[in-house]
Amino acid sequence: MARPYVFGSNFKMNQTPAESAAFYRQLAASIEIPDDARVFIFPPFTSLAAVAEAIGEGPHAIWLGAQNAFWAAEGAYTGEISLRMLTALGVDLVLVGHAERRHTFHEADVELNRKVRAVLGAGLRTLFGVGETAEERGYGVSAETVLRQLKIGLYGVDPEQLDRVNIAYEPVWSIGAGGTPATPDDVEPMAALIRDALGDLFGDAGRQVPILYGGSVDPSNAATFTALPNVDGLLVGRSGWTVEGFVATYQAGLAGHRQANVLVG
Ligand code: PGA
Repeated sequence: MARPYVFGSNFKMNQTPAESAAFYRQLAASIEIPDDARVFIFPPFTSLAAVAEAIGEGPHAIWLGAQNAFWAAEGAYTGEISLRMLTALGVDLVLVGHAERRHTFHEADVELNRKVRAVLGAGLRTLFGVGETAEERGYGVSAETVLRQLKIGLYGVDPEQLDRVNIAYEPVWSIGAGGTPATPDDVEPMAALIRDALGDLFGDAGRQVPILYGGSVDPSNAATFTALPNVDGLLVGRSGWTVEGFVATYQAGLAGHRQANVLVG
């Protein structure tokens, strides 16, 4: 069975609640989502309630995502947000291990594994981020780095929970305005490595886990990534911060995905 096309945007530390709700409404009115596509947005925590109100009761055609969550159920963790809080808002998906969480906020593999397991244990979906830094790439340890992040991050995940797991491969050197955009030739070997590792860890069910690429994706290059055999979707930042950019990048990526599946089929 062909894997779905999975696409969405991380708004990072941008937008007020009213801005995110307006974005959601305009997006919902302007995007068509076929059966084989999944679409998500990651507004900041402070916008989730406003977007949740605009989306209404689930199941949601556009998944409402949180950019982070804490693993403990409750307690003395000032400034943190629990899965119970997110579930009460109707959140569908939690981003765990984004490059900025790993590097700017120093989240370690073991802590991210606790988060992945907490998200899945709460019945939600996760988008789990992996990717090497420029320095790690320079030392020739991209593969080792990503495999370590993947194996520790998914350690102890029940194979029955895998249908709620998505992986985002985002080389840190390719993310953001200061990044050097990765090319399809950079990305496919890493996506294939991740696919094989998921197969080794979990068997056939592991190979069905969607792998997204992220880092300087825009409408002009989106299809070059989604046409790759092991890339099933895209996690975008900047190009998904306007509804027009979101829809244009989504459609370009969907066209690449269709092309790849026609070739495979
Ligand atoms: P970018 O961000 O698309 O702006 O490079 C990607 C990300 O941080 O996921």
